[in-house]
Amino acid sequence: MKLLETTTLGNLYLKNRMVMAPMTRSRADKNGVIIPLTTLYYKQRSTAGLIISEGINISKQATGLPFTPGIYTAEQIKAWKDVTSTVHKAGGKIFAQLWHLGRASHSSNRNGDIPVAPSAISIPTQSIFTQNGPQVFETPVELTNAEVKKVIQDYKQSAINSLEAGFDGVELHAAFGYLPHQFLSESSNMRVDEYGGNIENRCRFILEVIKDLVEAVGHGKVGIKLSPSIIYHGMLDSNPVELYSYLLTELDKLDITYIHLMQPMFPLDGYPQYPLDVIEAFGSLIHKPLIINAGYTRETAEEVVKNGKAQLVSFGSLFLANPDLPERFYLNAPVNYPDKSTMYGGGNEKGYTDYPFLD
Ligand SMILES: Cc1cc2nc3c(=O)[nH]c(=O)nc-3n(C[C@H](O)[C@H](O)[C@H](O)COP(=O)(O)O)c2cc1C
Repeated sequence: MKLLETTTLGNLYLKNRMVMAPMTRSRADKNGVIIPLTTLYYKQRSTAGLIISEGINISKQATGLPFTPGIYTAEQIKAWKDVTSTVHKAGGKIFAQLWHLGRASHSSNRNGDIPVAPSAISIPTQSIFTQNGPQVFETPVELTNAEVKKVIQDYKQSAINSLEAGFDGVELHAAFGYLPHQFLSESSNMRVDEYGGNIENRCRFILEVIKDLVEAVGHGKVGIKLSPSIIYHGMLDSNPVELYSYLLTELDKLDITYIHLMQPMFPLDGYPQYPLDVIEAFGSLIHKPLIINAGYTRETAEEVVKNGKAQLVSFGSLFLANPDLPERFYLNAPVNYPDKSTMYGGGNEKGYTDYPFLD
C-alpha cells in the first residue's frame, strides 16, 4: 500500500504515511504534568509514521479543560522528555501540538479566571465540560494589543520548550474554534486594531505566530492544523473560501513543514459558503506536504495518497482504539472501535493503554 510506504517530512524520515492525529485524553495531573502511563500510550502507537501529541497548553492563560497537560513549567517539560525519548527509541517521530483555547474555555477550569479572546463575544448555543458539570460559555475578556503580542511570545517560548522536551517539531492548533481560529473568524473577531477587520488583519495573528515558531525552532519543524469547513464553537464566516485562500497562500510562502487540514465533520446544511471537500477547494494553493484528516478509512486514505492529493493522512479515533493501526492496515485486519466513555479522563489505563493489539 502507498499509505505504508516511507516518506520524508522536513528533515524527518517517516516509516509510513500514517499520522496519529492530536487527541486530548485529559489524564494529566492537576499541575498539567502528564502521568507515567502517557509514555506507554504513545509508545504503543509509535509505529505511526508521525505522532502529533494531544493539545498541550502553551501557558497558564491558554488552559481551559480539566486534566490537560502543559509545557510551560520545568516539571511539565521534564515529564514530556520520557515520552519523546521512548517514542524515539521505538523508532517513532513526535510533534507537540501547541494549544490555546481562548474563549472555548471556562473559569471553573481556570481557577476562577475568565477566558481571554480576540473579542468579548461568547460561544452561543453550546456548553462546555467542567469539573462542576456542563456549563454555558462565558463572555471572554478581550485581549489588549500588548496582550496579543504576549500570547505570540508564549507560543514561541512553548516551541522552544517543546524542543527542549525532545519533540521533533511543533504543530500550531489553529482548528476547531480555538484561539488562532477565533482570530480568523468574523463571528469571534470584532477587533479594530491590526488583528481585526479585513481578511489580511484577521490572518495576521496566525502568520505572526508561525513566523515566530519557525524563528524559534528552525527549518522542518513547524506545522499547522486548520479546519476551514468546521463551524463548531461558533465559528462563522461569510466567505470562508476567500479567507482560507488568502491564509493558505501566505502560509505557503513561509518555511512551514506541513499543512494539516480537516475535512468537514458536521453537517453544513444552510451554510452553502463552506466547501464540502477542502482538498478540492484549497489543494491547488498548497505546495507544502498536506496531511489530510477526518473520517478517513484504510480505503479512502489509500486512495487520497495514491492519487497524490495528500502526502499523509492522519487518523484520530482509529489510532486511539488501535495501537497497531499500520499493521492492521497492512494485514487488512479488523479494527477495534473506540469507547466514547473513556476518551476523556476516566480510569487510568481503561480506554487508554488497554486497547488490544493483534495476536
Ligand atoms: C478523544 C479526541 C480528542 C481530540 N483532541 C484533539 C486535540 O487535542 N487537538 C486537535 O487538533 N484535535 C483533536 N481531536 C480531533 C482529531 O485530531 C481528529 O481531527 C478527529 O478525530 C477527526 O479524525 P478521525 O475521523 O480520524 O477521528 C480529538 C479527537 C478525539 C476523538
